[in-house]
Amino acid sequence: MQGLRGKVALIAGAAEGNIGAATAIRLAREGMHVVTADLNEANAKAVADEITAAGGSAVAKAFDITDETSYKELIEFTVDRFGGLHGLFNVAADLSARTMSRDTDVTSVPLDIWQHTIDVTLSGYMYGIRHALPIMMEQGTGSIVNTMSSVVWMGKDVAVSYQTAKSGLVGLTRHTATVGGKHGVRCNLISPGVILSKASLAATTEQFREETLASVRSTRLGVPDDLAGPVAFLFSDDSFYINGQSFLVDGGANFT
Ligand SMILES: NC(=O)c1ccc[n+]([C@@H]2O[C@H](COP(=O)([O-])OP(=O)(O)OC[C@H]3O[C@@H](n4cnc5c(N)ncnc54)[C@H](O)[C@@H]3O)[C@@H](O)[C@H]2O)c1
Repeated sequence: MQGLRGKVALIAGAAEGNIGAATAIRLAREGMHVVTADLNEANAKAVADEITAAGGSAVAKAFDITDETSYKELIEFTVDRFGGLHGLFNVAADLSARTMSRDTDVTSVPLDIWQHTIDVTLSGYMYGIRHALPIMMEQGTGSIVNTMSSVVWMGKDVAVSYQTAKSGLVGLTRHTATVGGKHGVRCNLISPGVILSKASLAATTEQFREETLASVRSTRLGVPDDLAGPVAFLFSDDSFYINGQSFLVDGGANFT
């Protein structure tokens, strides 16, 4: 893809076997310098090590997306290390059973789960944009991709915090696209459907996966690499005229 070689990408939520990792690996293959960041430092490092072992350019850093100072320091680290920041992929989420099993419906969800989910998925993404956008605007170029979920478009009777926090990203994305657009900075949104990341494989049953496969207009279920290509495209100059848009990457599950 055009315009990626030599540029700098920050993947905020990269750990072995997940969407962030697949994207980091793809971007490094396209010639970008990549920072893999995650709450779990060892997991982020494993991704960076895989990239460097294959001859790519990557470094890992631990951060906590719920802590604005931590995200700000991550962005400063990225710029110090590689001399700029051209692509920011906001992809972190807390999909742990501990959190998701308590994210029930609107009548019963515990307020600590509601707040935590908004902290990770909405406020955290805002912190990254708040500190990356001025750098990108000064460079006169940059691309931000936020990760939502197909579940927001479909609706579901549980996970009220997750759906609500994720849906706030529509406004954050279009606002950022509006602020950044005239300065060469774009911001778009992707909504994965069921993607067989390591976490999602552990959290779903064979029966669920078979039922999901029957519901998608595709020959197989999604895998993390299915998001890596779209993000690389949205970071590249090939998508120069795409700004403030939303993409479902769900194998066609959401046709009505
Ligand atoms: N896998 C799917 O089926 C699916 C479907 C729809 C949407 N999504 C979205 O795609 C994104 C990636 O999904 P995935 O399957 O790769 O998930 P994942 O759980 O493997 O990856 C998310 C990463 O975020 C990190 N994280 C959690 N809390 C953090 C914090 N406080 N600070 C920094 N990092 C933190 C986790 O450690 C993890 O590595 C998420 O935003 C998720 O909501 C995934």
